[in-house]
Amino acid sequence: MRRIIDKLYKENYLDKNELLDLINNITDKDKAYLISRAHETTMKVYDNKIYLRGLIEFTNYCKNNCVYCGIRAANKKADRYRLSLEEILDVCTQGDRLEYKTFVLQGGEDDFYTDDKIVEIIKEIKRKFPEHAVTLSIGEKSYNSYKKYYDAGADRYLLRHETASKELYNKLHPKMSFENRIECLWNLKKIGYQVGAGFMIGVPGQTNEDYVKDLHFLKELEPHMVGIGPFISHKDTPLANEQNGTVEKTIVLLALIRLFLPDVLLPATTALGTIDPLGREKGLKAGANVVMPNLSPMKVREKYSLYDGKICTGDEAAECRKCIEGRINRAGFSLEMSRGDNIKWRRK
Ligand code: 5AD
Ligand code: FES
Repeated sequence: MRRIIDKLYKENYLDKNELLDLINNITDKDKAYLISRAHETTMKVYDNKIYLRGLIEFTNYCKNNCVYCGIRAANKKADRYRLSLEEILDVCTQGDRLEYKTFVLQGGEDDFYTDDKIVEIIKEIKRKFPEHAVTLSIGEKSYNSYKKYYDAGADRYLLRHETASKELYNKLHPKMSFENRIECLWNLKKIGYQVGAGFMIGVPGQTNEDYVKDLHFLKELEPHMVGIGPFISHKDTPLANEQNGTVEKTIVLLALIRLFLPDVLLPATTALGTIDPLGREKGLKAGANVVMPNLSPMKVREKYSLYDGKICTGDEAAECRKCIEGRINRAGFSLEMSRGDNIKWRRK
């Protein structure tokens, strides 16, 4: 196994058989070695710097019905909310005071926010905070819509592919199209965004073969960012009684992604911190180099419930910011306060 891990470290690639063999048969000792090689790679590319993004969950309305997701349209128990432009700008002002340089606007697929409204939000944020990066995470849109947002000033776009297995994708996403999702990611790249793809770990029905497909898809797409985290069941979804994904598996996949894509920006996600109080630290030590604390107003935070137990111990953004920084420092890393663009990216 060491030989195969060393090969991955050197060549940033394994073929499907080698990779499947590694994931199927990895021992605890091999895991420690894999993680140390991933960490070495991160240190070479990014040193021990961790990038900070402020997450603004601005709408939990969604027209889709992803079977795992707590804000799916069919969940009548979800208490829906939308933030106004003014509320979003207030959150940004607070984030700016706390030295955030990236605002991530995340929401369900909510047609209330027409392209004109999204463009207005982007332009207003950019007018008030011209030095800040704006990241969108609002799902599948047409090429033209993506282009309008980019021209309005959006810099980055997060759209997890969710799984590179068409069969699993179709089981998880009623009435959605795998091909369209993949096409969206290529469109985003073509337009010039820094693009984030990603998937969940331990979704019911997911196999090691599926992770092999995910890693090979990522290698082909070459996204600037990859978001992965464990599946966590939500009580008001069809997957309510299913097992959660594990920290161990997530850590192995974080390390593999770092080795396949050495300069990718890779968050230690909230979901990872939710299933294990030390999950985020473990993620950082295995190759992750981004954290995305929540900047959403307290009154709406519990409503943006994608999965159960998604809470933050900080009662407000400021407290959370300090808590995060302390934790990052104690884990042996330092917070980087610049925008943190991917080193290969320039705006077209
Ligand atoms: N558990 C873990 N992650 C989830 N997401 C949605 N629902 C869940 C869940 N139950 C992830 C999806 C989505 C991202 C915003 O959150 O991968 O793309
Ligand atoms: Fe938010 Fe610690 S992570 S308060």
